[in-house]
Amino acid sequence: TFRVQEPLLSERLGYAQYRRRQPDSHKGTYGHVLVAAGSRPMSGAGLLSATAALRAGSGLVTWALPDRLVDAMTGRLPEAMLRGLADGGTGEWSGVDPHALVKLAAGKDALVFGPGAGRWEGDGHFLRTVWEETGCPLVLDADALNMMGEADGPASWPKRSGSVVVTPHPGEMARLLGVSTAEVQRDRVRAAADYAVRCGVVVVLKGTRTVTAAPSGEVYLNPTGNPGMATGGTGDVLAGIIGSLLGQGYTAVQAAALGAYLHGAAGDRAAAARAHEASLTAGDIPEHL
Ligand code: APR
Ligand code: MG
Repeated sequence: TFRVQEPLLSERLGYAQYRRRQPDSHKGTYGHVLVAAGSRPMSGAGLLSATAALRAGSGLVTWALPDRLVDAMTGRLPEAMLRGLADGGTGEWSGVDPHALVKLAAGKDALVFGPGAGRWEGDGHFLRTVWEETGCPLVLDADALNMMGEADGPASWPKRSGSVVVTPHPGEMARLLGVSTAEVQRDRVRAAADYAVRCGVVVVLKGTRTVTAAPSGEVYLNPTGNPGMATGGTGDVLAGIIGSLLGQGYTAVQAAALGAYLHGAAGDRAAAARAHEASLTAGDIPEHL
């Protein structure tokens, strides 16, 4: 059972929910988000997510990554705090103790995990540890979704104190549901809402008219965005935006729907700034938030 709240996420539901910054605020007002993303062949995924979190308004961003990458990433994003986690010299998350990440997440206002994280033997245990032992709101994207396992997954896991937003593209959604991608695309609202209701997480099913579905069955369709955004790394940017909004205190469903809205709107501005939308790259999107 699901309800499509509005045919489109309108300005009323989008920008109207956006909280203006107060003159007497400080960086503590806007949350501290931990972005755990990027590995040796995909360090850019972490860079894009952490950049997006800063541009979406976080007070502080810490970017956690395998130790071996720290030297190469130093200075690439001076506003973020870099935290290298011991990786056995691999530059991969496979060498990282999940408890090191859990420890770093203590006191943070949101955690983004998954973009460019890679896959390895036993990665499901890593994800379960993060799920069970961190308390803050959580965004799971990309490889974190692949670590989640089919069908049952979080439906049978212990309930977290913090909310969870998952951000699958249609292929990732299909794997989570144990169905084909074509089946997901045939009824995107149903696919997203089924998983959200069953697993108690907010689902952001990406693609043209991104679907945000809440555990309550509320569904929002996003009107912003363009096919120029069909380029590597744009999903990593979205994960950073949603994590930033969660860390600023928006509810999971607000952060997800508003995040998708702002991501698409920035993508539309980024496309307009180019001679043609085909020239848009993921890194343009945070620049236009
Ligand atoms: N119209 C509007 N928005 C679009 C369109 C379109 N035609 N095409 C793509 N987008 C948006 C999506 O809504 C989403 O927000 O671009 C983003 C693409 O996200 P992903 O599919 O996650 O792409 P990305 O993360 O860049 O892919 C890199 O990450 O998920 C892993 O394994 C995956 O190799 C892939 C890697
Ligand atoms: Mg992706």
